[in-house]
Amino acid sequence: MEKSFWLDKWQRNEIGFHNPQAHPLLVKHFPKLGLEPGARLFLPLCGKTLDIGWLLGQGYRVVGAELSEMAVEQLFEQLSVAPEISEHGELKRYRAQDIDIYAGDIFQLQRELLSEVDGIYDRAALVALPESMRREYAQHLQHLTGNAPQLLITFDYDQTQLPGPPFCVSDDEVAQLYGDNYRLTLIDAVEVPGGLKGRCEALEKVWLVERAE
Ligand SMILES: C[S@@+](CC[C@H](N)C(=O)[O-])C[C@H]1O[C@@H](n2cnc3c(N)ncnc32)[C@H](O)[C@@H]1O
Repeated sequence: MEKSFWLDKWQRNEIGFHNPQAHPLLVKHFPKLGLEPGARLFLPLCGKTLDIGWLLGQGYRVVGAELSEMAVEQLFEQLSVAPEISEHGELKRYRAQDIDIYAGDIFQLQRELLSEVDGIYDRAALVALPESMRREYAQHLQHLTGNAPQLLITFDYDQTQLPGPPFCVSDDEVAQLYGDNYRLTLIDAVEVPGGLKGRCEALEKVWLVERAE
């Protein structure tokens, strides 16, 4: 997926993926990560998700990566917070209390800049990427965070029915991407009401992705 695809989506405000509330599957399953308040959560490809405000409200710290500066600016407006902005190579960091968002390409983000991460919440990040990018993404995420545990939400549906994004990521692919370093548990599977984009039956699946012993 070209960067211009997403930048155009933000420019045109075609952001059907953006939920008007914290994601119910995050609220339901987040405690299973077993992280204490104060822990730092990484949200790759975070958009301006209201999940960030929910996590901050629960006492967590958040670090995100998002390509679109427009999205990042809207995120801070929503939070009613004025960020400090600094430049780090090709990325810009928007920082306020308990929150750092890196604006730019996640593949430019380095481990040292990201700093410590206790857990990852991947909603609409892995599934936003075409198959040709998903292995590189999964490896980069593991390298960036030292295999931090994840709450991962995927879509499972017949990819011939819809082109994506969001893309179908099968159980087998989740195992191929993360099975070497993580123990994977499918903890929920919920039918998408009315079908994905109103056109295709789909399951939204929640994975607990824990460090293998
Ligand atoms: C489907 S949206 C999901 C946003 C958010 N996770 C949510 O749940 O609302 C995918 C987001 O990934 C961003 N994105 C796409 N490619 C990216 C990249 N290479 N680096 C950082 N962000 C990227 C897009 O701008 C878009 O906001």
